[in-house]
Amino acid sequence: MGFFNWAAPLIRRFGDRFTADDADAIGRWIRPAVEPGGHVLDVGGGAGQLASLLAAALHARVTVLDPTPEMLAHVQASEHVVAVGGVAEDMPFDDDAFDAIVVSDAFHHFRDQKTAVAEFRRVVRPGGLVLVLELDPRPFVMRLIVIGEKLLGEPGAFMTPQQMCAFMAEHGIAGECEPLAKADYRFLGRVEKDRPAA
Ligand SMILES: C[S@@+](CC[C@H](N)C(=O)[O-])C[C@H]1O[C@@H](n2cnc3c(N)ncnc32)[C@H](O)[C@@H]1O
Repeated sequence: MGFFNWAAPLIRRFGDRFTADDADAIGRWIRPAVEPGGHVLDVGGGAGQLASLLAAALHARVTVLDPTPEMLAHVQASEHVVAVGGVAEDMPFDDDAFDAIVVSDAFHHFRDQKTAVAEFRRVVRPGGLVLVLELDPRPFVMRLIVIGEKLLGEPGAFMTPQQMCAFMAEHGIAGECEPLAKADYRFLGRVEKDRPAA
């Protein structure tokens, strides 16, 4: 996690990437599973900017899970936003604890993506939603970012939208991938626990 330790101030400085409109859109995507007062988990939620906006947009509680103390230190904790240290692959939460999970620009950093998805299935209640916001590694500018992250010691395991959908379905979360602006795309899937995971 060394990269995020030293990069945290930079990410925090330049990382206010979400507007209230972004959070409204993200909130609409997961709203079918999140009633007011519901509980959302932001995995790899970093400094918690999205968590704060989402908590306001959804009138829900949002827990930020992140292994980097330097990122978590910036979370504006409140009655509705809680910061918890930990990794996606081994979450310190009960089964079925959340109505939805959001993962923004973090999935490619998970060292064991298969175990992380198994944890998503475990901590999200049946019928809950998993939203992953990722970057498609194919456009030229993204290839430069992939190389840059490798050089900085944080090689990401990026997936194309097609690979993401196939990977999630294979590990028990069926859903759909849709392109967003620039190289961003979203995966949105529902957790059905009566179907066996791979
Ligand atoms: C580029 S930042 C994204 C932060 C925030 N989600 C956003 O969209 O601004 C990636 C985050 O993933 C976190 N991360 C890295 N490995 C992780 C893991 N195994 N489990 C959970 N989070 C992880 C890092 O600490 C970092 O805060």
